[in-house]
Amino acid sequence: MSHPIVELKDVGKSFSRADGTPRAVLEHVDFVLREGEIVALLGQSGSGKSTMLRIMAGLIQADAGAVTYRGQPLFGPARGVSMVFQSFALFPWLTVQQNVELGLEAQGVSQQERAQRAEEAIKLIGLSGFEGALPRELSGGMRQRVGIARALVVQPEVLLMDEAFSALDVLTGENLREEILELWGGGKMPTKAILVVSHNIEEAVMMADRIMIFGSNPGRVRFQMQVGLPRPRRADSREVRALIDEVYALMTAGAARSERGVDEPVRLRLTDSLPVVDVNRMEAVLEMLQDGPFHGRADLPKLAEESDLTDEDMLKVASALALLDLAQIHNGDLSITGLGGRYVEADHFQRKLLFGRQLLARVPLVAHIRHSLEQEASGELSEKPFLRLLSDAMDPQGAEEVLRVVVEWGRYGEVLEYDLHTRRIHLPGS
Ligand SMILES: Nc1ncnc2c1ncn2[C@@H]1O[C@H](COP(=O)(O)OP(=O)(O)O)[C@@H](O)[C@H]1O
Ligand SMILES: [Mg+2]
Repeated sequence: MSHPIVELKDVGKSFSRADGTPRAVLEHVDFVLREGEIVALLGQSGSGKSTMLRIMAGLIQADAGAVTYRGQPLFGPARGVSMVFQSFALFPWLTVQQNVELGLEAQGVSQQERAQRAEEAIKLIGLSGFEGALPRELSGGMRQRVGIARALVVQPEVLLMDEAFSALDVLTGENLREEILELWGGGKMPTKAILVVSHNIEEAVMMADRIMIFGSNPGRVRFQMQVGLPRPRRADSREVRALIDEVYALMTAGAARSERGVDEPVRLRLTDSLPVVDVNRMEAVLEMLQDGPFHGRADLPKLAEESDLTDEDMLKVASALALLDLAQIHNGDLSITGLGGRYVEADHFQRKLLFGRQLLARVPLVAHIRHSLEQEASGELSEKPFLRLLSDAMDPQGAEEVLRVVVEWGRYGEVLEYDLHTRRIHLPGS
């Protein structure tokens, strides 16, 4: 096997909650990045992927386990590791050339060498002629190229790409990804290993020699798989499609399997996170599943394509439907339940009724809020205690998101109402 570059052994990381107590974000993470490989990292948002990358780059320290770079414990930023972020993070008042040179400033390289190396990186990534341009004069795709050039100019051994393509439109993202693969394959980059975080399963399958799937709460490596397919890969080839299917199956099966049997319906705890999905989208997918070309059961990637959803959104919709028992996930397929079938047939009024009933039965937080409201003579309560409750299990932004979902779903099912100005939750009609 080829040489390890970065190694994480039993790594853990906690951040503090608002009340100062620690919340584990990563636990028992074992991972080795080796020479010559591209690894893709998939996982729900909030599962700790960026945190792991920052630890690998030496930007933050793990608080358990060991992190080594070429066999040496890593303290402080690793010289041989560069990161590319989702947001372009360019300085708007600096030219392309100056933005790229910035990558070298910290290394004490002479002005002349800086200029020359920046020029080379700019050329490599296809931006020759734009050295003097300002970021605002560039398209999103070009700006992301500048970000990549800035990462490459230090000639890193390891390139960490944190959702580097996800802010770009699909075609631009694909093109840039192809080019990176060409540079990599042609040996034109000094880079010896690449780790890409992605939300896009196809992207992971197209790029990676190995795929890791992260689990959440706390984040850890749940599955790893080798991708043995030769390059260049064709996105529409049978082998690629089959692998995409398999990854989908792993990502959805795992959620149910972690605590329960595979086929058991999903049961939530009070402070569990919820998929951030709007009701219209859930209904559209359910209708597509029932009345579209699928006859009640569909392959998730196909359903995503047919419904024009990204993999990430499809997974959220599928888990929301499963949560409410309107559909079931099994081996990467989504099939409609009897209840789901009735839902699709129902009129608007009946749908709301069914939706509300399922919410109360299957989302403990909704039942808890509803019950609390019923205890109040005024039928209303501030949202604050519920946000606080959620903050024990997640960060404040996550708590906000989950409560927004609960409110949106609850309003649709006419289980609760919400006043945007007072930020209070109340019973419908009170
Ligand atoms: N500096 C920080 N302080 C407190 N919480 C943080 C910090 N950085 C990340 N987190 C929290 O850690 C969790 C994992 O975050 P992150 O690594 O960004 O996940 P991902 O990249 O998988 O979306 C999230 O709940 C996030 O809010
Ligand atoms: Mg992230």
